[in-house]
Amino acid sequence: MRSRHPLVNRAVVLFFLASGVICYLPSGRIGADEKPVSFMRDIAPILKESCLACHDAKKRSGKLDMSTFERFAAGGNSDSPFVAGKPEESLLIELITTTGKKRMPPEGKGQRLTQAQVDLVTRWIQQGARLDPDVDSKADLVRELRKRWQPPSLLDHYRFPVSVTALAFTPDGKHIVAGGHHELLIWNIPERRLKKRIRTRSERSYGFVFTPDGMLVVAGARPGQEGDVRVYNPNGPGQDANGTMVLDGVENPQVLVRHLLDTDDSMLCLALSADGKRLAAAGCDRVVRVWDLTGGWNNPKLEQSIENHADWVLSLTFTPDGKHLLSASRDKTAKVWDLQAKESVMTFPDHQQPVYAVAASRDSKLGYSAGEDKQIRIWNAAPEGKQVRALGGHTDSILRLIAHPGQALIASASADKSVRLWNPDSGAAGHVLHGLSDQVYSLAFSPDGSQIAAGSYNGEVIVWNIADGKLVARLNVSPGLAAAP
Ligand code: HEC
Repeated sequence: MRSRHPLVNRAVVLFFLASGVICYLPSGRIGADEKPVSFMRDIAPILKESCLACHDAKKRSGKLDMSTFERFAAGGNSDSPFVAGKPEESLLIELITTTGKKRMPPEGKGQRLTQAQVDLVTRWIQQGARLDPDVDSKADLVRELRKRWQPPSLLDHYRFPVSVTALAFTPDGKHIVAGGHHELLIWNIPERRLKKRIRTRSERSYGFVFTPDGMLVVAGARPGQEGDVRVYNPNGPGQDANGTMVLDGVENPQVLVRHLLDTDDSMLCLALSADGKRLAAAGCDRVVRVWDLTGGWNNPKLEQSIENHADWVLSLTFTPDGKHLLSASRDKTAKVWDLQAKESVMTFPDHQQPVYAVAASRDSKLGYSAGEDKQIRIWNAAPEGKQVRALGGHTDSILRLIAHPGQALIASASADKSVRLWNPDSGAAGHVLHGLSDQVYSLAFSPDGSQIAAGSYNGEVIVWNIADGKLVARLNVSPGLAAAP
């Protein structure tokens, strides 16, 4: 693999500065050993990274649209930005190398391209400025790049702990599932053993739900690149590798059961209705989508997609009666959606700061929300959204909040490294669960309701008994990192 360490790149820049070669153009003939430059492999990723924000089909700065090769080649206010075989006559090269005012990306609006990138673009033009023969010149370049992208193979040993941004107990209550790096990690809790690894296209998982048929729905992302909702069968076929089963959730249709959604940025949260018939998902694109699952995985129906939040949607939950969906957003509000009317019917504004998590009371009448303001706020979910009480105690942002399915009990997880249990009916504080050494990113109740698991920024997961607050198990889910004592 190529090194992407920032210090390595810096060393390259320093070398060019030190040698006085700040702006140079390789000229002359291509050597016989010169590697052919591919537009799709080498150039399109540069355009996507550094140029497309201003030169997409919407913005078309300078009337130049780079969303397809055909439009890019046609140019904008000027003629085509490149002249095949002649970098020195190509506007593109002039604009990415100039130290003058016309530089692209414009000064202060983006980093100038590295010398290595400039070299690539230059060589591509020298070699004829061609599009790869297997790509349609009218094809959307971002979509083509996404199609070509392949997830990396699994690492035997993680060099850095993985942040546990999603966590769930398996339906048998004996294992936990944690999001890994391009994989789902299934750990046996009593044995503290990595039982299964399910390879995924997604780099990170942000939301998990198990459906009644034992399938695991995952909301995830390659942050900034794509987001997805995919459905996996954790009991699908795999290969044994030193006692750990490895399942292919990228290609094998017996493991990757369904691909529900692709978006341009991260999907951050999921919720399943109590009857298992409806699934909701949301994320950076602010759209709340609801599927009807009664037709099975062969025929999931996107029933509604509603856009009402002004910023990322970070958490979703159905009320137990299945009539409403509650959402929390970075736009500093929580909302209530009427699933029959297919619209937002209430906005709860009291947090005044980003709201990270939302849960619902067992009688479906109250909403619980929490976020940056360190408070859990309890409010009437209908009709007026009035606050009933606020619960304080955490000393930093509350990142997760979940409601126990059977008891008057909610659990909150915070950047203050603790998990707190509360009785939302009386407002009484219960156990404060310590032990994690970093910010707590994820929470899950066990299926029988007797235990709670929490995962942290540094890969640790702890399971506690709810009744007495006792620590049951503790592990670091990052494969190959030494287990925590
Ligand atoms: C922050 C926005 C922004 C970014 C990022 C950006 N551009 Fe531009 N670009 C512009 C604007 C604005 C113009 C029009 C300038 C003018 O007309 O003087 C322009 C004009 C151009 C033109 C001339 C178009 C024509 O036909 O006259 C080219 C070529 C170009 N950009 C290439 C690039 C490349 C290559 C990159 C990435 C390395 C890039 N731009 C990144 C804003 C941007």
